[in-house]
Amino acid sequence: MAAWAESPRPSALRPGGVCQSTARLDGKVALITGANSGIGKETALDLASRGARVILACRDVEKGDGAATEIRTRVGGAKVEVRELDLADTCSIRAFAQRFLREVDHLHILVNNAGIMMCPYMKTVDGFEMHIGVNHLGHFLLTYLLIGLLKRSAPSRIVVVSSLAHNFGWIRFHDLHSQGSYNSGLAYCQSKLANVLFTRELARRLHGSNVTVNSVHPGTVRSELMRHSTAMSLLFAVFPMFLKTPKEGAQTSVYCAVAEELQSISGKHFSDCAPAFVAPQGRNEETARTLWDVSCELLGIEWD
Ligand SMILES: NC(=O)c1ccc[n+]([C@@H]2O[C@H](COP(=O)([O-])OP(=O)(O)OC[C@H]3O[C@@H](n4cnc5c(N)ncnc54)[C@H](OP(=O)(O)O)[C@@H]3O)[C@@H](O)[C@H]2O)c1
Repeated sequence: MAAWAESPRPSALRPGGVCQSTARLDGKVALITGANSGIGKETALDLASRGARVILACRDVEKGDGAATEIRTRVGGAKVEVRELDLADTCSIRAFAQRFLREVDHLHILVNNAGIMMCPYMKTVDGFEMHIGVNHLGHFLLTYLLIGLLKRSAPSRIVVVSSLAHNFGWIRFHDLHSQGSYNSGLAYCQSKLANVLFTRELARRLHGSNVTVNSVHPGTVRSELMRHSTAMSLLFAVFPMFLKTPKEGAQTSVYCAVAEELQSISGKHFSDCAPAFVAPQGRNEETARTLWDVSCELLGIEWD
């Protein structure tokens, strides 16, 4: 990797925020979904370097073990563990949470990072369209199952990795699972808008609990996310100078997870380690509440 790629410092072509906080996380527990590659792996590495016990929740344990080994090599004394979690299967999410609650006493930072983008039409094990199923519903259920522990561990923080793409999405309540018509780009945008709306509604419900939740746009980052889109992969291959490295892409997630000045900030959206614009459809409280109710219904849960 080129030397510049190692540095999170912004360049003129790739502007980006840098998390300036030197906060230590000794004695703290962090859980990051999709931490075996890209932004998630770099977020895990950063939190581990601050002394946190970091749990990498990955659907492919072998890939997760590879990431954990790399983090241990790069950060002496890193406390990293890998656990299996497939967000496309509610049984896997429930099994993961059950074991987590049995074996881990505290949870101070939850980073809902895993994501899938522009895949061909696919359904999760439970019959949800893959984007809304993994990016939104999977994380919704995971957060629901762990919210008690997050409250008991307060002050604690939830970071939801959304995207600028939320601007181009709308929630199609009449066809949430794109059964009538499917466009992979729009399905991704819908799921990233769902991330923003979930953050907003969860923050409202968590008011006064000392558990905060904020959403993030990481920037346009060179990662494996484009694996399903030949056009996007080609575009990114032609213009690599405009892409952030995963380390740069992790800066805003880390900022939201550790920055002292964000201790009581909740329900906001960040990009480049600064407050960011939220599209009108991401600020609509009625849509956020309806999405909450629909999500509970689909998952068969009651979350007041
Ligand atoms: N890269 C960008 O430019 C960009 C821009 C805006 C937002 N984002 C967001 O940033 C987040 C991280 O993406 P990235 O760029 O780092 O991409 P990435 O390298 O592809 O990482 C995505 C991670 O999600 C995991 N994942 C996918 N499906 C899963 C499932 N069913 N269960 C559990 N884990 C699953 C992947 O695991 P496998 O390796 O096993 O597939 C991988 O670890 C995503 O939420 C994405 O939407 C990225």
